[in-house]
Amino acid sequence: MSDWTKLKSHRATQSETRITDLFLTDADRATGYAVAAGGMVFDYSKTLIDRAARQMLIALAEGAQVADRREAMFSGAKINETEDRAVLHTALRNLSGSVMVDGKDVMPEVRATHERMSAFARDVRTGIFRGQGGAITDIVNIGIGGSDLGPAMAVLALAPYHDGPRAHFVSNVDGADIHDTLARLNPETTLVIVASKTFTTIETMTNAKTAKDWMAKTVRDPGAQFAALSTDANRTAAFGIDGARVFGFADWVGGRYSMWGPIGLSLMIAVGPEHFDQFLAGAASMDDHFRSAPFEQNLPVMLALVGIWHNQVCGYPTRAVLPYDNRLMRLPAYLQQLEMESNGKGVGMDGNDLTVASGPVVWGEPGTNGQHAFYQLIHQGTAVIPCEFILAARGHEPDLAHHHILLAANCLAQSEALMRGRSLDEARKLMEAKGLQGAELERQARHRVFKGNRPSTTLLIEELTPHALGQIVALYEHRVFVEGVILGINSFDQWGVELGKELALKVEPLLKGEDAPGHDPSTVHLAELVREMRGE
Ligand code: F6P
Repeated sequence: MSDWTKLKSHRATQSETRITDLFLTDADRATGYAVAAGGMVFDYSKTLIDRAARQMLIALAEGAQVADRREAMFSGAKINETEDRAVLHTALRNLSGSVMVDGKDVMPEVRATHERMSAFARDVRTGIFRGQGGAITDIVNIGIGGSDLGPAMAVLALAPYHDGPRAHFVSNVDGADIHDTLARLNPETTLVIVASKTFTTIETMTNAKTAKDWMAKTVRDPGAQFAALSTDANRTAAFGIDGARVFGFADWVGGRYSMWGPIGLSLMIAVGPEHFDQFLAGAASMDDHFRSAPFEQNLPVMLALVGIWHNQVCGYPTRAVLPYDNRLMRLPAYLQQLEMESNGKGVGMDGNDLTVASGPVVWGEPGTNGQHAFYQLIHQGTAVIPCEFILAARGHEPDLAHHHILLAANCLAQSEALMRGRSLDEARKLMEAKGLQGAELERQARHRVFKGNRPSTTLLIEELTPHALGQIVALYEHRVFVEGVILGINSFDQWGVELGKELALKVEPLLKGEDAPGHDPSTVHLAELVREMRGE
């Protein structure tokens, strides 16, 4: 019997099992089904994973050779086989030592770029680097996907450490995005950072040109207030950005894994190179843990195995990421790209269709806001949605500690409510207490039943520091890696985004009223309607 079959058969025996029963039969479950490392705890006791399931999941990971693949990644082997590239974002956060790619140690260049970035960030922060109108007050990062989501998420997350210029992020090709951002800024004290691994992405290049035109209206040498983050030095030069302000990286850094290097420049300018280095150190500590801890005590491995259990074994198609931390507001969006662009694939490394589900839909919002929006469905809807709660024990506002206790109470209460639920008998008692009787009591009681037995996990950290944020992001990166290895897919390419990009270029002429053969009647009709509504 394959590991997958064993897991599914075991799951089939659990139709009557409640998570609460597992706590009754195992007095140590609360601690035995939690992994603690590096000052954080990942609690997965409120799931239906029992001893047998855990053993089977670990056997699945061992059988998929997660340990060998992990070493292959860290050592610079070309594990991104469909693009013939190494996968070395981990080299951007462990700046010591050497890593060989194609017979060359890549670390001297990584270190040199890191030093250049740090020096530039310091110059911007201290006013040594100036705009035409004086010290830089605002930076605008123009990028999309991996060239936007990571730094945008992290700048918000580390707001208590933000003492540099204000940071703005423009990603959407919708002119509203860049218009509304630039409208608030003074071009003479603004630094524009064009972040694009390829320097060809249409949204980014369109926004970059608009920003340059905007700046050129008042700034004599607009190019001097631009920096670029890219793998393509020829294209950045052609755009008119001096090499001194171009920070390059290699193709072995995937876009959605790139915030540790040059793509993190906006974050570095915002919080300072020292805090940025703490962020890198947090990630590097998670790398060490991932490489050395036994699977059962390994945070990324266990987070991945819980994910596999819920998605591929139990068949729950989505998972909600619910940070009880307002500053982690953009983490779900960041994780959507990280997880769904990495593992949303139907073909395995061997070129065959997957025989299990590809990665889940990832979504979420911070608590407590989500509680007043979509938690209704999570508690009483017909679909089971595994929830991943994230909570810091301490906030950054000591004089508002009572807010934080309420926040934490809500987080813990949600996972308890999801697991425990409320029985029909309990609901009937509530209705009796309200004076209801007979059929009406019964009818009203049924609306107040919570089936419970809904799984959740909790990631508990001490405080959302730069170090902790680095740990969290690296934790999720490695989770994606482990899940990808178990599914037998390449987590590091993204061919699925190409078709839409190609077709957008072919649809553009339709909207300009030009001849564009080969489109389906619906698309042609919609394009005509757009033109009609625009009065063309
Ligand atoms: O559309 C997909 C994608 O290639 C992402 O993987 C990437 O993060 C994003 O576009 C931006 O790419 P670039 O950094 O090359 O502009």
